[in-house]
Amino acid sequence: MNKITTTPDGASFDCDPNDTILRAALRAGVGMPYSCNVGSCGNCKFELIEGEVSHLREDSPAWGERDQKRNRWLGCQARPDGPCTVKFRADPACVPLHPPVSRPAELTSVTQITHDITEFRFMADGPDDFRPGQYALLHLPGVKGARPYSMCNLPGEDSWNFQIRRVPGGKGTEALWAMTPGDRVRMDGPYSTAYLREDSPRDLILMAGGSGLSPMVSIARGAKAAGMLKDRQLHFYYGARGEQDLIDPILLGEDLADSVRFTAALSDAPETSHRQGFLHDVVAQDLGDALKDHEIYFAGPAVMSAAIQKMAHEAGVPMDQLHFDEFY
Ligand SMILES: Cc1cc2nc3c(=O)[nH]c(=O)nc-3n(C[C@H](O)[C@H](O)[C@H](O)COP(=O)(O)OP(=O)(O)OC[C@H]3O[C@@H](n4cnc5c(N)ncnc54)[C@H](O)[C@@H]3O)c2cc1C
Ligand code: FES
Repeated sequence: MNKITTTPDGASFDCDPNDTILRAALRAGVGMPYSCNVGSCGNCKFELIEGEVSHLREDSPAWGERDQKRNRWLGCQARPDGPCTVKFRADPACVPLHPPVSRPAELTSVTQITHDITEFRFMADGPDDFRPGQYALLHLPGVKGARPYSMCNLPGEDSWNFQIRRVPGGKGTEALWAMTPGDRVRMDGPYSTAYLREDSPRDLILMAGGSGLSPMVSIARGAKAAGMLKDRQLHFYYGARGEQDLIDPILLGEDLADSVRFTAALSDAPETSHRQGFLHDVVAQDLGDALKDHEIYFAGPAVMSAAIQKMAHEAGVPMDQLHFDEFY
């Protein structure tokens, strides 16, 4: 174990030589800022004051030449080569409610959802403690670097279920589609601060773009299970290209069909009877000024996320009512 000391607040934690500084911090209950865990968002950047680290992903999009000159590293990619002192500003919002645990998991079933989205179910050692909206890292056979996938089910079901979109030529998804029940992986989680806020009195808007479906399904189901839908409305928006991408709203759970207003927005389907256009435009048309009265959750590609954040900003939605993960 290597001792990591943080400055300016002086907290310290142990980091296994095979772990990253971010994940070890979160396992120890230290609120190191982060989001993606794959070197793309840059939220986990820190300055190395003393000691040496190695970087797992040399081509991390969020790690540039300027960072390297200034001895700045990404917490999600940096492994300590010995004791280190690191500088970052801890965020209480990032202190995990359930510290992440790395454990073996076994694939138990595979169910096709659409032509390119499949649900993979895993059973893992240890408790299934997570919040609706969170994700886990899957270390897949023969794939360099773990891939994050968001759970679509609820804690307490003795299973970790992920709805995953197949990416043609993608290393992680190719490895997943080659797996059969009984195969084992290493699973590390939960992560993410974009989880369901059960104590918010506001109505909910959920926006899922393509592969962003999984965490929104979990949040919708979690809101129902927590009794939130007795006095709050839930608008579920699903954005996709064409009719071949549509999902059956029953996927959200049979008991949810009456509690949830489901809308599909198709961006490339001129003949469709569903709403046409981009997800954020359809939501803005429907809710306009009322957006700021909602708790808003979304997940999907970075370009969709940027459009939704712009829309929310223009509608005056306070940042603390927006909860999202960008899928890199
Ligand atoms: C927080 C989060 C949650 C996500 N949840 C879901 C989900 O629920 N469902 C879903 O379908 N997709 C989800 N994704 C996307 C998913 O993680 C993958 O990016 C996607 O499946 C494509 O992976 P691939 O390996 O098939 O494609 P590839 O093109 O081989 O890899 C794509 C991505 O993998 C990452 N990557 C590549 N090399 C490395 C490396 N050496 N180390 C670490 N990372 C690397 C990069 O982010 C890259 O963009 C999520 C992404 C994030 C960030
Ligand atoms: S770059 Fe490290 S959490 Fe996103």
